[in-house]
Amino acid sequence: MSLPRGPKTSSFVQTTQFFLRPLETLDVWHQDYGDTFRVLGNELPATIFFSNPEAIEKIFTASPEYLKSTQSNNLLKSLLGDNSLLSLSGEQHERQRRMLLPPFHSERMHDYSQIICAITEEVISEWTPGKIFVVHSVMKEISVRVILNIVFGLQMGDRYNHLRQLLISLFDIFHHPLNSILLPFLLVLQKKSGLWSMGGNFIVQLQQIDQLVYALIAERKVQCNSMHKDILAMLLEVRDESGKPMTETELRDSLLTLVFAGYETTSAALSWALYWSCYLPEVHKKLLAELNCFTPASNKSEIARLPYLSAICSETLRLYPISLMPFSRFVRKPMEIMGYRLEPETVVNVSIYLAHQREEVYPEPKRFNPERFLERQFSPYEYLPFGGGNRRCIGAALAQLEIKLVLATILSRLQLALVTPRSMKPVRRGLIMVPPNFEMVVTGVR
Ligand code: HEM
Repeated sequence: MSLPRGPKTSSFVQTTQFFLRPLETLDVWHQDYGDTFRVLGNELPATIFFSNPEAIEKIFTASPEYLKSTQSNNLLKSLLGDNSLLSLSGEQHERQRRMLLPPFHSERMHDYSQIICAITEEVISEWTPGKIFVVHSVMKEISVRVILNIVFGLQMGDRYNHLRQLLISLFDIFHHPLNSILLPFLLVLQKKSGLWSMGGNFIVQLQQIDQLVYALIAERKVQCNSMHKDILAMLLEVRDESGKPMTETELRDSLLTLVFAGYETTSAALSWALYWSCYLPEVHKKLLAELNCFTPASNKSEIARLPYLSAICSETLRLYPISLMPFSRFVRKPMEIMGYRLEPETVVNVSIYLAHQREEVYPEPKRFNPERFLERQFSPYEYLPFGGGNRRCIGAALAQLEIKLVLATILSRLQLALVTPRSMKPVRRGLIMVPPNFEMVVTGVR
């Protein structure tokens, strides 16, 4: 069969629409052209979106001979380095991924649980009735403290404050929608002319981050590593198949990648989870009933297994996925998906959002309904907030643990209400979708 149909507007119009209103645009394309559609007109190579589970299974399980994932863009490379998991593909990606996986094995989750609960308690410890807070700011605060602690073992002090402030402002530059387009040009311009521009700022901040991170790595190399339980400690021990440790540049790139990939994604998901838990009275009531048996001394892994809490976490990531799509893949050898013959170089995209909106899989897909996760299990090709295949998010278990424990810790200590209850739609922030800013108020302490 020839390639699927798709919108007839110009590539410029389609890119702008997708950039400004991604979910609405995907809804319209899906309504007009069905499960599978071609975007960007007749441009070559063709770019095709899939959302049918059968297609997604084929894409996620295809051998690299047929489908290869793309790498991150140049801007991400300039931030995270050539050795970042996000910058690599093929065998180099496989090797780096194998080295990065051990810190995310299930036996590590016990230590991470203690850190997540302690940090959440600390952040909310002085809150009293009447306190109003911007939810996204608080969730970013918790998320950045958790990630810097888990990745670098940093908690307090000058070095922690400096690194934290540098990373946040660097990621902010990166996440501004126009910067992803402008910054690569500014960087080139800055290199050529030496002009003090936003590109210059970016480079200076990056150099300061590098100084701090390389100093930390060097210190740790001469210390007794077994004193530390963070990811840096584990990566210093890890060896590849030929027995080689990670180089300092590989360590730096990997550590920054984990912070970058884990910080804003998790804080956005946390904000949504708190929103849904308080916005819908029925959900709120059921969750509190389940959390009634929870005290600060309770076993954290038991809390993370609570069924309704887990269902809220899953439904939060279903309805408004934080990532619009996994890495694009491109065709290397002719192959067929959903009856379409795809030629080499065709770009294959999976829409996580549209896959999560399928009526036959998720009845009333636009309704927040955690019960659906109690009633049936979904395959990895129907439910994919963390992508899939050989690029599936390595921080998925950590992110889910964090959402559940932060939610449980906050709601079992405080009674909360939305300052202005209203229905909300996600907005784009760089590569991810986040809730718009909203406030909550503490109405009581338990
Ligand atoms: C709610 C939070 C999160 C969401 C929704 C999320 C989502 C995703 C998605 C969709 C991908 C692309 C997968 C693909 O192409 O198939 C990804 C990749 C990745 N994520 Fe996450 N992520 C989250 C949290 C985290 C955390 C906490 C970490 C680490 C601390 C992390 C580290 C990574 C890394 C390193 C990759 C690249 C994997 C590779 O290329 O092999 N993520 N994530």
